Amino acid sequence: MENTPEKTEKTEKTEKVIRRLADLNTLVSLSKRRGFVFQSSEIYGGLGSCWDYGPLGSLMKLNVKRAWWNAMTRRSDIVGIDAAILMHPTVWKASGHVDGFSDPLVDCKDCKTRFRADNTDSYLTKKQCPNCGSKNLSEERQFNLMFKTHMGPLEDSASVVYLRPETAQGHFVNFMNCQQSSRYKIPFGIAAIGKSFRNEITPGNFIFRTREFEQMEMQYFVKPGTDEKFFNEWKERRLQFYLKYGIRQESLRFKPHDKLAHYARAAVDVEFNFPMGFSELEGIHNRSDFDLSQHAKFSGKNLEYFNEAEKEKYVPYVIETAVGCDRLFLAFMCDAYREEVTKDEKGAEDVRTVLAFHPDIAPIKVAVLPLSKKEDLTKIAEPLRDQLAEDFDTQYDEAQSIGKRYRRQDEIGTPFCVTVDFDTINDQAVTVRHRDKMTQQRVPIKELNGYIAAGLKNWNSTT
Ligand code: GAP
Repeated sequence: MENTPEKTEKTEKTEKVIRRLADLNTLVSLSKRRGFVFQSSEIYGGLGSCWDYGPLGSLMKLNVKRAWWNAMTRRSDIVGIDAAILMHPTVWKASGHVDGFSDPLVDCKDCKTRFRADNTDSYLTKKQCPNCGSKNLSEERQFNLMFKTHMGPLEDSASVVYLRPETAQGHFVNFMNCQQSSRYKIPFGIAAIGKSFRNEITPGNFIFRTREFEQMEMQYFVKPGTDEKFFNEWKERRLQFYLKYGIRQESLRFKPHDKLAHYARAAVDVEFNFPMGFSELEGIHNRSDFDLSQHAKFSGKNLEYFNEAEKEKYVPYVIETAVGCDRLFLAFMCDAYREEVTKDEKGAEDVRTVLAFHPDIAPIKVAVLPLSKKEDLTKIAEPLRDQLAEDFDTQYDEAQSIGKRYRRQDEIGTPFCVTVDFDTINDQAVTVRHRDKMTQQRVPIKELNGYIAAGLKNWNSTT
């Protein structure tokens, strides 16, 4: 943006910035109103904890996934895969999910509330129902979180398959396929994005915990003995990823696990300050050689890696990074949300709501706003929208005052607004307004795509 030819003038001033972590209700209603996230099957009263991503949400979710995917796979040591949701049922025996992937469940016999015994404070401290306070409770019983279904026409025990509760097992069972087909040497990783399903006892907090969700997981296979070094490297890399995409440092913290799973050598959560407090966004785990050893045992296949140069064989250790796409989507919304009091040149105050997304995450990159609906302008503005749509996700808006249209774009986080006015007819130039600085700049139409591309790329240095 340094080499833009025209002068910059400020027409809207930010007088006072109120920056706050939005509460969930505000985000749920903004999401519905503007088309980010809708309740699933809403016209039928909705389905518990299931959500649909709307016109803007689906665009933004693709952006979240692309950011993660590029960070993982545009490296010389990580390949991507897209494994099936349904897997051989023995996978889940080997992984421990059939026997151990369960939460302790308690029912209140009075108000019929069902809750998890292991993370409900009032139960843990006073053995009472979190809803009505009753002590008339059932015994704790283990509830397996995997969704079961049947493959083929017979619904018998031989046809049972599970909807995967994590994408990671697709990486382990494809370890040899990926290593041999890509001819990568250890250390190397396998990354994937895909749907996972967990029959959670207490889903909630909007898209934070749902029964159907998307995971972005990467398994990094390393030589035993180097695992601690790679665990620390991945911790740092994942933190840098969040900072790069605009999440504020103070919204993030690492929380080491107090209790480790029997196979884990180290585990830490990246926690984000969600409206309900700091909670897990991502897990980073040193899983030792547990997964590959289990699959070798249950499949009868040798999953050892042979290092030709050193003439050594070993079962690799795995460093795992696992983040929920939906949870990261929510974190981006929470962190980007702000309300600002602005003053125009005459001193009139206004509050604008802004989703100050990193431009790679913002669903719409540029909006085209003709100053009037008159054909003189729309016959320039409509082809201009098509010109921009070749390179960017674009919106066209000609309804109401220009100020209202700016606010509508601020609220969905659009980095640039382009105004076509009556001068455009003569000078073939448009006014480009920057979301965060609220500066305006005259740019020739023929240079516009390049100007917007450079502005999006250099956003951090220009804000
Ligand atoms: N393979 C390891 C694994 O799945 P996890 O901590 O159970 O680890 C990883 O899950 C991430 O997936 C979590 O940090 C969270 O972001 C996301 N996740 C897990 N359960 C979820 C749910 N019910 N709803 C939304 N996201 C979930």
